[in-house]
Amino acid sequence: MQDYAKEISSKIKKKEFAVANRIGDKIPYTAVNGVFDDWTDKNLCWWTNGFWGGMMWQLYGATKEEIYKEKAMELEEKLDGNLMNYNGMDHDSGFKWLTTSHASNLLTGSKESLNRLLLAAANLAGRFNPSGFIRAWNDEKGDNAGWAIIDCLMNLPLLYIASNVTGDPRFKKIAMVHADTAIKHFIRNDGSARHIVIFDPETGDFLDEPGGQGYGKGSVWTRGQSWALYGFTMSFLHTKEKRYLETAVRCADFFVNNTPDDGRIPVDFRQPKEPDYTDSCAGAIGASGLLLLSKTLRNEGADIVAGVEEISDRYEQTALRILHYLTENDSDWNTETDNILMSCTAAYHDKEHEFPIIYGDYYLIEAIFRITGEETYIW
Ligand code: GLY
Repeated sequence: MQDYAKEISSKIKKKEFAVANRIGDKIPYTAVNGVFDDWTDKNLCWWTNGFWGGMMWQLYGATKEEIYKEKAMELEEKLDGNLMNYNGMDHDSGFKWLTTSHASNLLTGSKESLNRLLLAAANLAGRFNPSGFIRAWNDEKGDNAGWAIIDCLMNLPLLYIASNVTGDPRFKKIAMVHADTAIKHFIRNDGSARHIVIFDPETGDFLDEPGGQGYGKGSVWTRGQSWALYGFTMSFLHTKEKRYLETAVRCADFFVNNTPDDGRIPVDFRQPKEPDYTDSCAGAIGASGLLLLSKTLRNEGADIVAGVEEISDRYEQTALRILHYLTENDSDWNTETDNILMSCTAAYHDKEHEFPIIYGDYYLIEAIFRITGEETYIW
């Protein structure tokens, strides 16, 4: 496992050094013909805008090459335009400011970055509805006051970290109420995760489970399943509450039991045979999450989950199977092109499928560095 991960780590470093030196100040989302696009003017508040910064901080942490720090800091400063735009702030602040400001604070001790992190955390806490959930999106697509989504679990570390930094438990308590609501209303009996749940914003009553970015109502969007197994693991790591680890295992079991033998992750575990779209982002996120969960179970899970050794091995082997698929069948290692992964899909019913998306590359790098020990843990 180490030899394989070290080999991929060298390919990553070779490629990203070339990309960092030619990219300028873009904030990429996708690549067209191998060239990154730029969301600075297109939508500075887009939820994925932190991931290029996160990649640069991971590379800086692993290599200490100054170019990566420069690129990451440039991007973080640009995101101040988002931080000052109330309507552009939604529940995805963790994806934007953990990958940038938190990573920066960890690696450089920047107080300016810490200030950004706390501002983003305070805004996220302000989205909490005392009926029991953190509101996901704003109202661009209708009345969303009662909408919450599974992805939000990945943003909760912003709140846990804010409580650690300030000594004020408010942030952590909000995160835990949301995580408890997610256990109750997002995770089905079979361990599969709903993408979206609509609550009555006045009472917190469950109203509906609309189809989200997966195949449809009642289906299992693979990226959502990855967010779930990864997100509950992190809530356990921050709180040590065993219900979060138990739920992470239920979600991971579903993910692992449905992962095909070849390690290729579809967009939805319940999608039809045709069209059989791939989402390599879901694969990279799932693999990184499974590696974290496997290690967490080994270190802290023996008193909570029965058969911890066998379960940890199974999760690690599945993560490796997925990573082998991604790095051997779906990666572009040419240093003249900008993206690594090639077959990511934002949503099953979108017009476009199987193209590069920046967070796929982030989580692939994170997973590989997690194995080699070069990761900067930002969650
Ligand atoms: N967080 C939105 C997505 O995974 O597409």
